[in-house]
Amino acid sequence: MADVERPELFEFHGVSMTHYFTDNWENVQNFKALPDDILIATYPKAGTTWMSYILDLLYFKQKDKEREKSLPLYERVPFLELVIPNYCTGVEALDTLPTRPRLIKTHLPIQFVPKSFWEQNCRMVYVARNAKDNAVSYYHFDRMNMAQPEPKDWNSFLQRFMDGKMVFGSWFDHVTGWWKKKQTCSNILYMFYEDMVEDTGREMERLCSFLGLSTTAEERESIRGGVQFDAMKANPMANYSTDLVMNQKIFPFMRKGKVGDWKNQFTVAQNETFDENYENKMRNNTLKFRTHI
Ligand code: PPS
Repeated sequence: MADVERPELFEFHGVSMTHYFTDNWENVQNFKALPDDILIATYPKAGTTWMSYILDLLYFKQKDKEREKSLPLYERVPFLELVIPNYCTGVEALDTLPTRPRLIKTHLPIQFVPKSFWEQNCRMVYVARNAKDNAVSYYHFDRMNMAQPEPKDWNSFLQRFMDGKMVFGSWFDHVTGWWKKKQTCSNILYMFYEDMVEDTGREMERLCSFLGLSTTAEERESIRGGVQFDAMKANPMANYSTDLVMNQKIFPFMRKGKVGDWKNQFTVAQNETFDENYENKMRNNTLKFRTHI
């Protein structure tokens, strides 16, 4: 395991964060985006890795057959705001990335996106996942990722999730902030994890059309097979098995990959409290999620 300590959560410009994502703040905010950069943004555990892998294959599978076998996905798609001891920072990794376009992972809420991404009119793909499955996935992730705060018991975790006391802040603010921005910004494609599970091929077509990528149906079909949950789970370049801050003996990073798994975690009482809280926060929102498909 890597030598990292579980961090404390603190308030940072109104959002709960840990120092692993704020220690390089000035360099992150001054990051120089290039016009062809593609930002992959999500709240944690909403399908970042899946989207990253799909985009990486769409852009590079044909050009470089070795890339897929030799480079872990987190090196191909650097994590902009990450700063973990003994690893190069996300910004350094991006500054030295040899391939174009750069695919860039972020969990930043909309108000923290560095201004150069807007100045350069970069395209951004946001993936959102329903709150219940997102919360469950986040809980198990915090159990096995030593660079995350201790999740404690599920009941208190769920309360903190509802209160927005999570790394990268409130799920509600995150998905809503990006959704509002998307209404006036045609450079943002807003996608849903549930749609990707329902029909990966259809969502890949949406992606290609948004990005202006001309791929054949045959290419897309071959990529679709490689990005299915079981294939990614078995793929050491995509399953984070080489990332030493995660203790995958507790839980594998590729945990279940399902819509509706929350039903195995929430008690009836927790579900009622959650629904009430959700309704209060999302009542006037045009953003709608599916908690089962
Ligand atoms: S992270 O750590 O924030 O970058 O995590 P992220 O990649 O956003 O989300 C991890 C969850 O996505 C699931 N996943 C998938 N589901 C379906 N199909 C595929 N191919 C896939 N790849 C990743 C992963 O299993 C995590 O969800 P849970 O519910 O925990 O299984």
